[in-house]
Amino acid sequence: MKVLIATDKPFAKVAVDGIRKEIEAAGFELALLEKYTEKQQLLDAVADVDAIIIRSDIIDAEVIKAAKNLKIVVRAGAGYDNVDLEAATKAGVCVMNTPGQNSNAVAELVFGLLVYAIRNFYNGTSGTELKGKKLGIHAYGNVGRNVARIAKGFGMDIYAFDAYAPASVMENDGVVALGSEKELYFTCDIISLHIPATAETKGSINYELLSNMPKGAVLVNTARKEVINEAEMVKFMESRPDFKYVTDILPGNHAEMQEKFAARYFSTPKKMGAQTAEANINAGIAAAQQIVGFILNGDEKFRVN
Ligand code: 3PG
Repeated sequence: MKVLIATDKPFAKVAVDGIRKEIEAAGFELALLEKYTEKQQLLDAVADVDAIIIRSDIIDAEVIKAAKNLKIVVRAGAGYDNVDLEAATKAGVCVMNTPGQNSNAVAELVFGLLVYAIRNFYNGTSGTELKGKKLGIHAYGNVGRNVARIAKGFGMDIYAFDAYAPASVMENDGVVALGSEKELYFTCDIISLHIPATAETKGSINYELLSNMPKGAVLVNTARKEVINEAEMVKFMESRPDFKYVTDILPGNHAEMQEKFAARYFSTPKKMGAQTAEANINAGIAAAQQIVGFILNGDEKFRVN
């Protein structure tokens, strides 16, 4: 059995070593494709593998077709919008993610971005504090829950809206569960996005929704760029000079955002949320163990297709 790690954005070396240990202990072989620049390199690397571990790497129908022996793809992370589930299912390939394994890392970055934003990007002027501010967590999954835990330490008032989770999940954590997106945006000084990119959510953070936010509001995005309506974000920021947007996912219109709103917009150049040694180890080793469990015992826990 041959397992490929295909990561455009590599794991920390210590995580790759941990994955190797798991794979080799099962008697499998490990191959590594990191920092590839052409899709052809991925197509060549998958030709003879049984399993693939990926991050945000695109696994489309062409990649699945090129991987003749493929049995399983594990997305070492939460969001699997980068995998063509339909093509995988058609080819009899199992797809899994590793929920929760990198969520603390992402949640910590939310606060890194927020403090940077509300201290005016460290430009020397007086900023504001998180203490006493109303934080709105948009979708209460693994990352949202970690954000709530950390926000308590900052002394924030915490609200959340989740279209699928029952209110009791949030209330048990001391978080006020609100009944709609609109109510969340209307109530909170700061919104942290944790929605996945789905047909329903793509472009859903638009002018109308953002218009509900109070003066001096901040939006932090460590989720996906696709959930933002980028043209309407420009329109909104033009109409609201008090509003700040910080993101861990480079927008498609980054150059325009940078030029128009340099004093109240920031994006990391490459998604950094899950980029810690701890998150890489947790998600990478979970992925390796899930592959071994699937191939040796048919264990399908965490299957998403
Ligand atoms: C996830 O969905 O797990 C996060 O967005 C992290 O993505 P990455 O592994 O590409 O950094």
